[in-house]
Amino acid sequence: MKKRSDAAPGASRKAAEDGQRSKVEVKSKLSHSSVLINIGKCLLLIIIIPPFLNYASLQREGQMLLPKDGQIVDVGLGQRMHLLCKGQGKPVVILDAPTGMSSDIWFYVQESVATLTKVCTYDRMGLGFSKRLMQNESTGTEKGWGISTTGRMVDDLHRLLLAAEITMPLILVGSEIGTLNSRFYSHIHDVQVTDLVLIDPIPEDIFEEEQWKEYWYGKLLPSLQAKQFSAASGLSRLLIILGAIEPTIKENVSEEIIQRQKYLLSNPAHQSSAVDEYYFMNESAAQVRDIVRYKPLSSRTSVSVITGDSFDQQIPNHLNQMVSRLQKKFLEESYPSVDHIHIKGVDRRMIYKKPSAISHYLRKLVSQRQAKQQSH
Ligand SMILES: *[C@@H]1O[C@H](CO)[C@@H](O)[C@H](O)[C@H]1NC(C)=O
Ligand SMILES: *[C@@H]1O[C@H](CO)[C@@H](O)[C@H](O)[C@H]1NC(C)=O
Ligand SMILES: *[C@@H]1O[C@H](CO)[C@@H](O)[C@H](O)[C@H]1NC(C)=O
Repeated sequence: MKKRSDAAPGASRKAAEDGQRSKVEVKSKLSHSSVLINIGKCLLLIIIIPPFLNYASLQREGQMLLPKDGQIVDVGLGQRMHLLCKGQGKPVVILDAPTGMSSDIWFYVQESVATLTKVCTYDRMGLGFSKRLMQNESTGTEKGWGISTTGRMVDDLHRLLLAAEITMPLILVGSEIGTLNSRFYSHIHDVQVTDLVLIDPIPEDIFEEEQWKEYWYGKLLPSLQAKQFSAASGLSRLLIILGAIEPTIKENVSEEIIQRQKYLLSNPAHQSSAVDEYYFMNESAAQVRDIVRYKPLSSRTSVSVITGDSFDQQIPNHLNQMVSRLQKKFLEESYPSVDHIHIKGVDRRMIYKKPSAISHYLRKLVSQRQAKQQSH
């Protein structure tokens, strides 16, 4: 009995020890897996929370940041576009933004010219506050026109100007892709345009050049796609908060304009439309080449070109030379009496880096037209 009772505690102690050990093992297994679960949860949080927060913020900001004097115009086919006009008078000046950019980029130029006449900027479909339609909302008519090429953008612009009852004729000013659009527009609707101003025009033949295509589709486009991905994943918003990404225009502008640029930097819909404009630029260029060939510009429309020292200071020199050679070629062929203005020390960023030079020229143009109108 005694032995047994001695043995019993021993056995039970052993059993207890075994139990203890296996509990410890289970515990450590448990804590291993719970560490893994926690890491998993953290990763999930990192992957899911930023896009979720970003999306929630975008919803709110999209309502709040719409420019106060901007109009949302119904342009037909169920589409609505954002138009922002300032100033009063004639002739009306229309500003068409560089590739992938929203109307805010014209802020300085618009403010300055608006003291003389009415100046309007707008957001091309998909950019800024001109939201692209949801799939379920499209009427089908625009499906063929779905891609962001000059032909479709000019059609959008024309419907916008009619719907907003903008007084014709116009002074049409474009930069980069905006020059393709404003050329296309002026060749088709020539009675509506008295003056065509091309800032850093994209020559229609540039996409015939292998080196340019390599740069455009091999370097530039991937960097823009990365920006789009970064916006969609919420990374852009984080980087903006950390100060690693900054809005394009910062000097002498209101907090509202700064916030609006930050909103668009973290907005995947805007970024994706920007990528589309770059992606289809070769198609846009080809469309302009066709229009120019089949429908020459009216001799009553004056054409001027504004360029800086180079197209883009950040790209290799041989590409800049290529742009400048092909610019010269299309100007000689299509607009022999062009007025060429050269602005020192700038590149394609001139509309926000040296806006005074551009507004100076536009103001001169407006005054000349106004003087002519009065003398009639
Ligand atoms: C289309 O879908 C969106 C989101 O799914 C919805 O908000 C909108 O009301 C729909 N529009 C129509 C016309 O059904
Ligand atoms: C901002 O304002 C200052 C002072 O008026 C001026 O010198 C500068 O050129 C302005 N910057 C821009 C980009 O307009
Ligand atoms: C534009 O580039 C795309 C992709 O490289 C190509 O498929 C298309 O044919 C090009 N279009 C023109 C007009 O060159």
